[in-house]
Amino acid sequence: MQVGRRDSTTASLAAANNNIPPQFFDFQALLSNFQSHGLSLKDLVVLSGAHTIGQARCTTFRSRIYNESTIDTSFASTIRAQCPPAGADNNLSPLDGSPTCFDSVYFRGLVQRKGLLHSDQQLFKSDGSESDGLVRHYSENLNAFWEDFGVSMLKMGNMSPLTGSNGEIRNNCRKPN
Ligand code: HEM
Repeated sequence: MQVGRRDSTTASLAAANNNIPPQFFDFQALLSNFQSHGLSLKDLVVLSGAHTIGQARCTTFRSRIYNESTIDTSFASTIRAQCPPAGADNNLSPLDGSPTCFDSVYFRGLVQRKGLLHSDQQLFKSDGSESDGLVRHYSENLNAFWEDFGVSMLKMGNMSPLTGSNGEIRNNCRKPN
């Protein structure tokens, strides 16, 4: 990523929720959201690969593991054990099979219908789409994932940057100066 970018001095939950797509979006809505920010299908797929790291709360994937048919059945039962039909909203599950490693397991999981979030599995629906092809490509080519991820991160980081006296360059990226 590029350093020295100007950052906001305040944060807004409402503004964030207006721009960041929710996990219940279908493929077309995810793509339209990214395109409205100047990002492409390839950016959508490769940046979603960030879900190779980290975890999600039960409340964000409950509906998928109990109601969807586009999910590997044994994967769904394993995840259900950590995420009951009601309650335990904040229980965590890993977003892929190796949540501390920046690898291609996220994409391999999508090919096996083991995407945790509805939005993840929307990128691979076994319908022969361009999106399917990109997921398969990154599932088989770790270097392509790393290279394209870097390019798309720069592109996302350069979306409407603050200039002039707007915002500030943070001394510590976690908090305003
Ligand atoms: C394509 C649309 C996306 C949707 C719908 C989405 C949705 C989500 C959701 C629901 C969670 C779990 C949050 C929680 O339980 O509180 C999550 C986690 C995460 N997302 Fe995304 N995301 C998207 C794209 C991205 C992108 C573009 C990046 C970065 C390049 C990213 C990076 C992450 C990371 C790193 C986590 C794990 C956070 C942690 O473990 O603390 N996501 N995402």
